[in-house]
Amino acid sequence: MKPRTDNRPKVGPKDFLASLGIKRPPKGGVFTQRLWDDIKSRGGDPEARFQGDGFHAAANDMYFIDPVIARRVLSEDYERWCRHIKDFTTVEGFPPKPGAIAEIGCGVGILSLWLARQYPEATVSGFDWSERALEVGRLFAKDLNLANVDFAQKSFEDLADTPTGTFDLVIAYHAFDMERTRRVAGKAFDYSELSESALDELSDQMMHAMRAMARLLSGDGVGVICGKWDDVGLLCLFHSIRKAGLGTNWSATLWNGQEKCSGGEEKHYIFVRKGIPHIGASPWEDARALLTCGEYYGRNVELDHKLLESYVALFTPGETLAHFEFQYDSGGIQRLRLLKRAGLLLLEDCTTLGFRRGFLHSMASIAEMFAIVLRHEAEKQAKSVGKITKNVRAERLMPYLFAVGAMEEADDNVSDRRSSGSAQTGPSARGAPHAGPRRTRRT
Ligand SMILES: C[S@@+](CC[C@H](N)C(=O)[O-])C[C@H]1O[C@@H](n2cnc3c(N)ncnc32)[C@H](O)[C@@H]1O
Repeated sequence: MKPRTDNRPKVGPKDFLASLGIKRPPKGGVFTQRLWDDIKSRGGDPEARFQGDGFHAAANDMYFIDPVIARRVLSEDYERWCRHIKDFTTVEGFPPKPGAIAEIGCGVGILSLWLARQYPEATVSGFDWSERALEVGRLFAKDLNLANVDFAQKSFEDLADTPTGTFDLVIAYHAFDMERTRRVAGKAFDYSELSESALDELSDQMMHAMRAMARLLSGDGVGVICGKWDDVGLLCLFHSIRKAGLGTNWSATLWNGQEKCSGGEEKHYIFVRKGIPHIGASPWEDARALLTCGEYYGRNVELDHKLLESYVALFTPGETLAHFEFQYDSGGIQRLRLLKRAGLLLLEDCTTLGFRRGFLHSMASIAEMFAIVLRHEAEKQAKSVGKITKNVRAERLMPYLFAVGAMEEADDNVSDRRSSGSAQTGPSARGAPHAGPRRTRRT
């Protein structure tokens, strides 16, 4: 993240929240009868919380009826605020120096306020359809002396009509309901049976939100989505991402799976941009890819060599992303294949002389896994002990890797002149690739 350019003292998440009067929640939690009574006595309607899965404007108007109630309600999310604020500086994928930032479904805009404070030279716009929540946000901005943040009442639908995208960073945190499984009841045995129109119907607000995000983002602006989801919700999200003309950056996207964060929630951020080709074949594969990100988070699963053959059989009806073969002058051929199926990757490394190795990864490791194939290619060329006999890549692999910045075209061509006609121009990998666990955090 960019170094601070102002002279104000560095403020951590806790001090920042304290300056807004947001504290750790009391032992029994915030949502007690006393809160509902206090809201009612101030003219609010506690029953509004049962409307629209809590994502309704009326519910927000009730939670943020005045700053005193707002502070109490916001305290419930104390741990979550601390984590999100910290993650802005520790998770890879956020633009290093955003000039214009937007938050859709911002509520009172705690994160917008933090970003405005963190980037004094940036302008931050928070959008929500709940005027009461925005009013509290404006008051907080005044309290913090922040002139570079504003809040406007706009629904996702309104924002989808925005004429041009100018924002470098657009965030949507817990802004829409992604827990959709109960809504599928009676529609399908298996989620892969859900039709396009069933997905459209299930996606409703998500679709509007993703269209809004696509409209707000500049050409290379980064969109970040975070919120609780179930598997159908995830499917709908990727369906909406695709329909809005956005693509997922798997190198930055992260779910820490089983690892719970303080406050109980798992950590996940989905990074999207315009102009990223889809590396997954469908929203189903995207959703499975995210789920396997969690399953394989921080793990490098080497298959027992006795299992490799059966795994290769499972993967071969899928897609071959890269296939490299090298024939040694001394005899014997080495083959490296990067296979993809159902959001998972299998990297196979074997020789006709009986050497066999295989690694399972989530699709999020695609750049690292392909870099291993490239490294082999470069090593073989350097040693000049044979010739490359096959070097094929799936058509959309390179455009995807270039678009997410995982690879850059090098001046030198790593493909061997002696290789077969199927060899292609080689890119160079950024950084030093390794077969170890994927690390998405900056340290
Ligand atoms: C659960 S709150 C999350 C607020 C904040 N982003 C956070 O992380 O706490 C969801 C917010 O999204 C807003 N919202 C939901 N649907 C919306 C829509 N269609 N247009 C605008 N805002 C919407 C709600 O008013 C609410 O403030």
